[in-house]
Amino acid sequence: MSVIVTFVGIILPYITIVAFFGGFIYRIKGWLSIPVPMPISVTYPQSRGEQVKNIASAILIFPDLFRKDRNLWFGAWPFHVVLAIIIIGHWRLFMDIPDRILMAIGYTTQGIEHLSSVFGTTVGIIFFIAVLYLLVRRITQVTLRNMSNPADYFVLLWLLGIAATGLTMRFVGLPYTNIATMQNYFWGIFTLHPIAPPTDPIFLTHYLLAQLLLISLPFSKLIHPIGIFFTQGIKHSLVVQKQVR
Ligand code: HEM
Repeated sequence: MSVIVTFVGIILPYITIVAFFGGFIYRIKGWLSIPVPMPISVTYPQSRGEQVKNIASAILIFPDLFRKDRNLWFGAWPFHVVLAIIIIGHWRLFMDIPDRILMAIGYTTQGIEHLSSVFGTTVGIIFFIAVLYLLVRRITQVTLRNMSNPADYFVLLWLLGIAATGLTMRFVGLPYTNIATMQNYFWGIFTLHPIAPPTDPIFLTHYLLAQLLLISLPFSKLIHPIGIFFTQGIKHSLVVQKQVR
């Protein structure tokens, strides 16, 4: 095994797991310990049903963003939706639960592969276009350009690189995207008995970029979808509701 393959496929995954989960715990502890002088709620305390409806719509549809900045919404909303789908799709690489669920509702192995191929490629393309749109918008809008720092461009270019290499694998259809091979490899990592990883350069580039993203994630601005659950808005919507009852 070459030094690069060993580093990306055997050593870096452990660094990623520790940094990703350790970083998350560190950030959550930080958020929970921030004193809040005045609770801000994203919803006016009404019935529990309305609270849940308002919170769900804030998370799933971004209605405030739609009202305030429609141009941004047209890039940001599809970006977040397909990212969520990509994360669920990638779950298949680590364990067979998604396949079992699909089989339970009548899918065959071939049907699952077809679904994954069509759906995975489609969401990958939408993801790529959405990131490109966010990048072009940042470059072409003067106010936004003046407010941007290099990190804002860097993270978008990074995501484009991950999407481009992921899509290349989809289009090239290399043999290692065989789910059983990937699951065996990850099982080896999780059980501390790593086996040789796939060695294709496109996979290794995708995997390297993705792992570096995951390492930096808890400390980057991309963490905000998780932060929302621990900081002001939603937390206090529920706390205020509790106090009113
Ligand atoms: C441990 C990390 C990751 C691994 C091992 C991994 C592996 C893979 C593999 C093997 C494919 C090809 C799928 C196939 O042909 O069946 C793929 C596709 C893709 N990956 Fe990843 N990936 C990882 C993380 C990420 C992350 C963090 C993102 C985005 C932020 C991402 C975005 C994509 C996209 C857009 C595609 C193409 C469309 C799709 O298959 O959904 N990947 N990835």
